[in-house]
Amino acid sequence: MNISHASLAEWGLSHLKLRQAMIILDVGCGGGANINHFAQIATGGRVFGIDYSPISVKVSKEVNKKWIEEGIVEIRESSVSNLPFEDNTFDIVSGFEAYYFWPDLINDLKEIYRVLKINGELLLINEGYKCENKEIRKVVENWAKLGNFKLHSPKEYREFLTEAGFFEIDIYEQKEKGWITVIALKQKI
Ligand SMILES: C[S@@+](CC[C@H](N)C(=O)[O-])C[C@H]1O[C@@H](n2cnc3c(N)ncnc32)[C@H](O)[C@@H]1O
Repeated sequence: MNISHASLAEWGLSHLKLRQAMIILDVGCGGGANINHFAQIATGGRVFGIDYSPISVKVSKEVNKKWIEEGIVEIRESSVSNLPFEDNTFDIVSGFEAYYFWPDLINDLKEIYRVLKINGELLLINEGYKCENKEIRKVVENWAKLGNFKLHSPKEYREFLTEAGFFEIDIYEQKEKGWITVIALKQKI
């Protein structure tokens, strides 16, 4: 997972300004590679990861051992539906290849909204969506069928994020590869 998703993550993250003092949560952290990337930048902040799979939590902890020992990273076993954090905690909540598996999309997004700070941003980076390229779309629709998950078009992303309460939804498409990055704001003051 860590290696195969690296170029997707790099492209997606190029749309976001990361700062040293940020408090970040990676939801569905898998093998922990993105936590590791965040920790190298947010050295004056904290980086948290959650995943409902004990194996992912174990691997993420191994990959981020150094950062955990330095007190920058913390990884917990948890579902996206019930995040073990106070309201208004994070500057960024990310989900890399993750939202497809969330059991109750709108309520799970509302749970993320709850833990974001007022000016906090949700970042979704995905390898598959309802893209215009017919060949790529056929391949990803096949994955979605096999994995029993739903794909969305950019318009549908806007709709479900708006329904969950988000503002200023920016969508970036890598049309040659069929990748999508979505950045949405909790609330602007
Ligand atoms: C396709 S993997 C992506 C992992 C990682 N973000 C990456 O890009 O390499 C999806 C991850 O989401 C986790 N996951 C699925 N459903 C979840 C849920 N309801 N709550 C928390 N994590 C979940 C899985 O255990 C898995 O580690």
